[in-house]
Amino acid sequence: MTTTPAKVQVHPFHHADTGTWSYVVADSSSRQAAIIDPVLDFDAKTGRITHVSAQALLDCAIEHGLRVRWLLETHAHADHLTAAQWLAAQLPDAMVAIGQGIREVQRTFAPVFELNPEAAAAAFDCLFTDDDEFSLGAIRASAIPVPGHTRDSLAYLIGDALFTGDSLFMPDAGTARCDFPGGDAAMLYRSIQRLYQLPDATRVFVCHDYGPGGRAVACETTIGAQKRGNIHVREGVSEAEFVALRETRDATLATPALIIPSLQVNLRAGALPSASGNGIRYLRIPLDQF
Ligand SMILES: [Fe+2]
Repeated sequence: MTTTPAKVQVHPFHHADTGTWSYVVADSSSRQAAIIDPVLDFDAKTGRITHVSAQALLDCAIEHGLRVRWLLETHAHADHLTAAQWLAAQLPDAMVAIGQGIREVQRTFAPVFELNPEAAAAAFDCLFTDDDEFSLGAIRASAIPVPGHTRDSLAYLIGDALFTGDSLFMPDAGTARCDFPGGDAAMLYRSIQRLYQLPDATRVFVCHDYGPGGRAVACETTIGAQKRGNIHVREGVSEAEFVALRETRDATLATPALIIPSLQVNLRAGALPSASGNGIRYLRIPLDQF
């Protein structure tokens, strides 16, 4: 007998500058909650950091009387800075979590950013490994490894809702690039086939949407809709077809505008660099590395 997964409350927040969706996810009976992929506002022109977007997530939690237990990253993002550490400082009950694969991503970029991989891994409170389970009150949740876009990519299944990170976008937007170090289109294809084993009714929430073709930005679809209509990887598309399509497209994509500040901060769970002797914090730009 299969049991119907519990319905969770999902509050989506769109970060227009980076096209990122963040989520406050809650169990309405226990009021335990998770925040997924929070964004730190960063103006690259001025180097100014603000917390307007992260504060909105916090305000949502306060307004609904939620106790935030988890700050969940789907992966180390290359297009925006995470607000996980700033939120962790406001939310003492919350643990910052990401996939175990972050260790490999940290090792890859350690030489470029002079990162101590062990210290960077310890900046996270929790590194999820194969299908680790956790809960929000009585609602069961699991962290599903979905490597391909990056080695550390996770999808979070919380009750009836799946948060895919960048592994699946809206059906008319397809999938994310697989050309970062450690990315692998064939691996992403296999990861997506795993997600397609979930019931068709599973609600799917994506990490990015840029409103292709001028449509309004959107964040929610279903596994069934993805299987029927994802423009890159609907049912019937073979692994070889997907890999060819993905690699051809990846060859045309520019380096993300914020990849250098994003990785510097996100590989350390959102911890900003400590201040220099003059009291100013600096992000660095490695030359000729990207
Ligand atoms: Fe990403």
